[in-house]
Amino acid sequence: MFKFIFNHRLNQTVIVSAFLAFNVSSGVLLENPVAHAAPPQAPISTGLPETLPLDILSRGRFVPFQELGTPMRPPLGAGFVLNGQAIPNQNRQKLEEVFGEEFFARIPPGTRIFPTTNRDRLEVWEYPAGTQIAHLISFRTDPIEIFEFRIQQKLPDERWAFGTYSPENGRLVLQKYVGFPNVSYFLRLANGKDAEISFKRINLQSCRHCHFHNSAGNHQYPSTDYAGPAGFVPANLELKSSWAERYLDQNGHFPF
Ligand code: HEC
Repeated sequence: MFKFIFNHRLNQTVIVSAFLAFNVSSGVLLENPVAHAAPPQAPISTGLPETLPLDILSRGRFVPFQELGTPMRPPLGAGFVLNGQAIPNQNRQKLEEVFGEEFFARIPPGTRIFPTTNRDRLEVWEYPAGTQIAHLISFRTDPIEIFEFRIQQKLPDERWAFGTYSPENGRLVLQKYVGFPNVSYFLRLANGKDAEISFKRINLQSCRHCHFHNSAGNHQYPSTDYAGPAGFVPANLELKSSWAERYLDQNGHFPF
């Protein structure tokens, strides 16, 4: 009997406090709709400078590396129309008649990338804060014209900032657009041909998600929020060998 009463009272208490809590929180919500909203997510470019000089690659002593050649190619854009003809995104060969791509990396002087192994004995790299890895997308004009300078930068809090810069008035400006803006260019290519190309830029919010799902090194990232390089990872064997040697030659220190 006692047990029954106890339970009964407990239930009542629970019901009453749940009711109170409900009333209180709905009251707050009515008075101030933002009080309980989740804090807005910081843009994924937070931590990157607003502008970069056009000669950032030489000034930053970046060293080029070979991309890994992932099955999912990093997107140049979408919805391409070249000289009046639609080109599917997958027709990379055709798009490469117009676009060139190069990859570069640098680490802050005096630091190094620290290889370790995780519990599954997979190689994991600890990239020093300030590591910058770049994907330069240019038009095959003479001289080349930069379309986008995409960069990932390791932040002191272990995350990677992702940003896209485009040339404006003699410098590279961090892009802040929303959605998939349309762009078109009339180009005289280095091979003498003229190209009229229009397409959509990629979504600036898509970087981390795609890098988390398509990196050959995503065992390095505990979640999408911590996603970083897709091809500049242990699976890219060139990095510890010829890239590191070129780095030593150019910058005077071995990066591993
Ligand atoms: C649909 C997938 C996808 C999206 C979206 C994407 N990337 Fe990538 N990106 C890749 C892949 C895959 C590679 C590696 C290519 C290789 O090495 O074979 C890559 C490479 C890079 C690299 C060279 C270093 C590295 O990770 O190996 C940079 C820098 C980069 N991306 C920046 C960006 C930025 C900035 C954005 C967003 C504005 C972005 N990417 C959006 C798939 C994507």
